[in-house]
Amino acid sequence: MNIGIESLSFYTSRYYLDLKTLARARTVDVDKYYLGIGQEKMAIPPPGEDVITMSANAACQALKKIDYGKIAGLLFATESGIDQSKAGGIYVHRLLELPKNCRVFELKQACYSGTAGLQLAVAMIARHPEKKILVVAADVARYAMAGSGEATQGAGAVAMIISAEPKLIAIEPEAGYYVEDVMDFWRPNYLQEALVDGKYSIRVYLKALAESWHHYCQVSGRTFSDFYRFCYHLPFTRMAEKAHHHLVKLTGNESLAELTLTQFRDSLSYNRIIGNSYTASLYLGLASLLEHAAEDLTGKRIGFFSYGSGCMGEFFSGIVQQDYKNYLFTETHRNILNDRTELTYQDYENFYNFVYPTDGGDHKFPEYETGMFRLVGIKEHKRIYERKV
Ligand code: COA
Repeated sequence: MNIGIESLSFYTSRYYLDLKTLARARTVDVDKYYLGIGQEKMAIPPPGEDVITMSANAACQALKKIDYGKIAGLLFATESGIDQSKAGGIYVHRLLELPKNCRVFELKQACYSGTAGLQLAVAMIARHPEKKILVVAADVARYAMAGSGEATQGAGAVAMIISAEPKLIAIEPEAGYYVEDVMDFWRPNYLQEALVDGKYSIRVYLKALAESWHHYCQVSGRTFSDFYRFCYHLPFTRMAEKAHHHLVKLTGNESLAELTLTQFRDSLSYNRIIGNSYTASLYLGLASLLEHAAEDLTGKRIGFFSYGSGCMGEFFSGIVQQDYKNYLFTETHRNILNDRTELTYQDYENFYNFVYPTDGGDHKFPEYETGMFRLVGIKEHKRIYERKV
């Protein structure tokens, strides 16, 4: 039985900052951002947009051709959750009016938990192949203003339907994984911004990639030449180049330098103009690959590397399914990205500095473009969401 991704869609903030504007404000050469880290624009959520509204928007689209009655679980992956106790997925479940007999919970392990959700969903479907699971990965990547991570901020949500009718990708059973207790990136409960040792995090990412790859090869018996394309976790798009070169070197394939670029290039387009979306970033890369590859990917094996600081790595694989192009939301995604509003530097500071009140009072938020859903306000410490249409 094939199990995998039947449907995949994403949503991101309707507002972005071009990194040339940030470069000017920070008196940095813009090529450091455009070329050095490989980022061009970053999505910045306005007041009233958070991981819940972005997830509901992404999931609405992914569910378009799906029988709601078959959804037996909603697994919500995030590292920028809105509550220490209640799962964000429960708000999303209500906004989407999904069936009441549904398992809903939240998963956390930095940028890795979207993959935890995907693998768990595959296992749930193996037990009940007639059902479908909605996996949502959503994050707002937020670093200290003017800090080294600032240009790698972003925001977005990816929603995937996992089922025994994988119209896009069948996930293979073999996976290689690696865990190590390190402090490369973390966010204590009392901080709104992540703390990061950027250079160290790149080194740990590469180590976790090597360890996960070795484990994957051990359990699957496959080698580098069994793969057609690769999707990497993308905190910034140049990370894919670093990761892929590391893998190529590790596997003794350095002579294929030109070929190697084409092995990951199509996966970068969306991340380059959205920025980091933590848990969603790997799957945004997959959407980018499927929606940008000029050639037919049917039957090809894709390698995936998921990384979550702290740290957890996983290498796994999937096979692209026949007629996958008929099940993509390419036009919707391009419209979302083309219709965005560019922010001035001052707008960016205003959005960044907007703080949700914590006094327990009754607060309404200004209305911005946030798709079909909106965080209207907070009353008695409770977030109030509405469906706009
Ligand atoms: N033109 C072209 N390239 C330029 C440049 C210019 N004018 N100026 C700098 N660069 C290059 C540098 O040579 C470097 O390339 P390299 O990685 O090949 O060495 C790259 O741009 C980044 O410059 P650097 O000075 O290393 O940037 P930084 O000290 O500001 O830090 C990160 C970069 C990625 C570490 C930082 O943005 C960060 O902490 N990000 C968040 C953490 C993260 O994403 N971790 C990844 C694992 S999850």
